[in-house]
Order: sequence, then structure tokens, then C-alpha cells
Amino acid sequence: MLEQSPVTSQAPQQLKTNDDRIPHIEPLFEDATFVSEYSRLTKRYAGPDYEPILKYTLAQLKEVEQPRILELGPGPGWIGITLAKRRKDARVTGVDISSTYVEIANQNAAHEGVDDRVDFRKGDACRLEDFPDGSMDAVISNQSFHYWEPPENVLREVVRVLKPNGVFCIGDDRRDLTFMASLIVMLTKWFLTANVRESWMRSLQGSFTSKEVQAILEHSDLHGHAEVKLYPRMFFVQGRLKK
Ligand SMILES: C[S@@+](CC[C@H](N)C(=O)[O-])C[C@H]1O[C@@H](n2cnc3c(N)ncnc32)[C@H](O)[C@@H]1O
Repeated sequence: MLEQSPVTSQAPQQLKTNDDRIPHIEPLFEDATFVSEYSRLTKRYAGPDYEPILKYTLAQLKEVEQPRILELGPGPGWIGITLAKRRKDARVTGVDISSTYVEIANQNAAHEGVDDRVDFRKGDACRLEDFPDGSMDAVISNQSFHYWEPPENVLREVVRVLKPNGVFCIGDDRRDLTFMASLIVMLTKWFLTANVRESWMRSLQGSFTSKEVQAILEHSDLHGHAEVKLYPRMFFVQGRLKK
């Protein structure tokens, strides 16, 4: 949750071999106390983590009027809310599997004065049947990819709901942290509450390595459309749909 710079655009930089992946199922995502702590802490500290998605999406949508943006796994909703504040003509819809997160995200949108253009609803990113083919100018997501069962199903839905030439930017933590990122994680985690810290550690153990992300991408409908951008602690699958 601290400022990061890209390390490379393609080749994985694995400074250390990490343990096996342990898929992360987080029961606290429906716990009101946890979700409210996460909302407060991410509002205070996660701004720099959110910037790569915000900057990329806003730059790519410069020429698009009244862009329709879909956010997958928005949690407390800060990315969609910030997008709507920076692009006054954008409409953002967030789909999250946790009703507790949906409730707090809608409260956050109202509190920030953007609930006329931002709404969050309950749903599974693997099945976006409420969203017609070719209806979105952009699909974005942060730190949700490794919860999708499997990610390829969501990437198929991303391709389906995007308009031709639509923009996507999907970021998540990577398990193959660089040495510097491991140090940053060790320091940052002590700014968090115990519950959020422990959930983040489980989340990191459940995240993918950059090589695993490349393999998932190659077997997905986004293959040939996307580049993987690596940061010390995160990856971003981003690009435009060539259809
Ligand atoms: C670690 S939180 C990240 C929240 C937010 N994107 C952020 O960066 O602060 C992961 C979010 O993904 C959501 N999620 C997990 N699986 C999902 C799925 N299949 N469909 C939609 N949302 C999902 C969780 O409920 C949670 O809100």
C-alpha cells in the first residue's frame, strides 16, 4: 500500500522463489467490522496502489464521451468513486460477491457525492449475465483476480462485455514479490489492524506469480489483446480489445 514504480513491461523479475500457492477464501469479507476497517485503511493508505489503474484507465478513455466503466471486486469502492470524481461524465458500476462490501461501497459513494453516477451491486465476476455483450467502454479490477474461480472465466466475461476497442486494466498482488517489495510489505503491514494484516498475508499467499499470470492469460480469451505490466508487488493485465 505504498508508492510503486514499474520494474519491467514483460519479463518476470523473480528475485526469490516463493512457496506454493494456497488459495484464499476469506470469511471476513462478509464481516461488517472487518469491512469497515478495510474501507477506512484503504481510504487512508491505498491511494498510491490505486493510481496505476486510475491513470491508465483515464488516459485510455480520454476520447470517449460518457464512458461506461465496470469494476470487478470493488470492495469499499474507492477506485470507482475516484474515477467518477476525476471524470465527471463517467458512469461506474461495481460488482462484488460480498453484500457487506456492496453496502459500504454504496455508502462511500453517497458520502463522496457520486452516487448519481456510481452504483455497486452484488454479483459474481465469473457470471456477468446482467451486462449485455459489448456494453462497456472499460473493465477494471484491483486485488480481486486471485479470488476468481477460475480467472479465465472472468476474462471471458471481460471480453464479452467490452465494446470493440474497449479498455481493460486488471491488477493484483503477485506472490513472487521482489526483495524490495517484501521489505515494503513487512513494514506496511504494521500500519494495519490485526484482522486486515492477517487477511492481507493470506491474500498474498493466495495470489499468483507473474509466470502463473502469464500462463492464465495465454489460456484465456484476452490472449493477444493484453500486456502484463509488472511492479515490485503487483501485476497489471492491461490493453484494448482488438475486436
Ligand atoms: C482484497 S478486496 C479488494 C477490494 C478493492 N478492489 C481494493 O482494491 O481495495 C477483494 C474483493 O474482491 C471481491 N471478490 C472476490 N471474489 C469475487 C468474485 N468472484 N466476484 C466479484 N467480487 C469478488 C471480494 O468480495 C472483495 O471485495
